[in-house]
Amino acid sequence: MVLLGDIFPNFSANTTEGEIDFHDWLGESWGILFSHPSDFTPVCTTELARVITLLPEFIKRNVKVIGLSCDTISSHSEWCKDIKSYAGCNDDKKFPFPIIEDKDRLLAAKLGMVDKDELDASGMPLTARAVFIIDPKKKFRLSILYPATTGRNFDEILRVLDSLQLTDKAKVATPVDWKMGDDCMVLPTVPEDSVDTIFPQGVTVVPLPSGKKYLRKTPCPNVL
Ligand code: BEZ
Repeated sequence: MVLLGDIFPNFSANTTEGEIDFHDWLGESWGILFSHPSDFTPVCTTELARVITLLPEFIKRNVKVIGLSCDTISSHSEWCKDIKSYAGCNDDKKFPFPIIEDKDRLLAAKLGMVDKDELDASGMPLTARAVFIIDPKKKFRLSILYPATTGRNFDEILRVLDSLQLTDKAKVATPVDWKMGDDCMVLPTVPEDSVDTIFPQGVTVVPLPSGKKYLRKTPCPNVL
């Protein structure tokens, strides 16, 4: 099992854009690998169409996206036409990101993407809806796992990317329901006597019944 902070395992795969070596394909970019139970399924179709719509947002953040579904390349290629249609895309346009072929679910099993409670018609466990975020150093930075019956919220995935990229650059953490531009929390590891130097934009200490000064807010640092 891969843990957050580990180097994400490399693999070779056949995709709708040909054979890839995952790490080479990532290059210097961030990456999102998201898995699907199978082709020609309604929830998956809405998710992939949403990723097409949000692609400019991923590109803006230097993120490459790649899907995985447990069917063949020829099935993926047919399905891509439905996804483009659902997304309101011109059918002449190339499908804008690769989808990995994983017909035996070997890669899904290797990466811990299988949901043992959701079975296909032949009784085989379905691939769950995993979201894995990998950073430009190939470190595994985030994992979200949804059951097959719950579609993902890709706005949340963009929000998480913003948080990861911001907190890599500034000594802050992002609080509940944070969105880019909202106040952030000064990291608990920042000593009180360094706060003014590190956060010239100011810090507000929120008074709490414990009297402890740990809830320190600061305007969102402008570091991206
Ligand atoms: C879907 O994508 O619609 C789906 C796939 C597997 C199980 C349930 C829903």
